[in-house]
Amino acid sequence: MAKITYVSFEGTATTVEVPVGATVMEGARDNGISGIAADCGGACACSTCHVYVDQQWIGKLPAKDEMETDMLDFAFEPDEQLSRLTCRLKVTAELDGLVVRLPEKQI
Ligand code: FES
Repeated sequence: MAKITYVSFEGTATTVEVPVGATVMEGARDNGISGIAADCGGACACSTCHVYVDQQWIGKLPAKDEMETDMLDFAFEPDEQLSRLTCRLKVTAELDGLVVRLPEKQI
């Protein structure tokens, strides 16, 4: 398990335990975190699982692949450095404490 904190656009932080091997998107979905729609179910085909990763964690994540980079172009106000698709982020023990911020809306 790893603790993941989801911060709503309004600033409310919710911390949940997410199993190692699940994705950050699944952690939100399975814990009732609103703001991550994940319309495609995790197939990297919708961009509605977009978040801004907290600055201090960005260097600890695996790099975006081309598919994620392309799909982020369709997200609402993506940030070149901080934006990630949570269905692409597998939870590992090293990500214990990860903080992600939700955008104002998902497209
Ligand atoms: Fe659709 Fe992540 S759930 S791109």
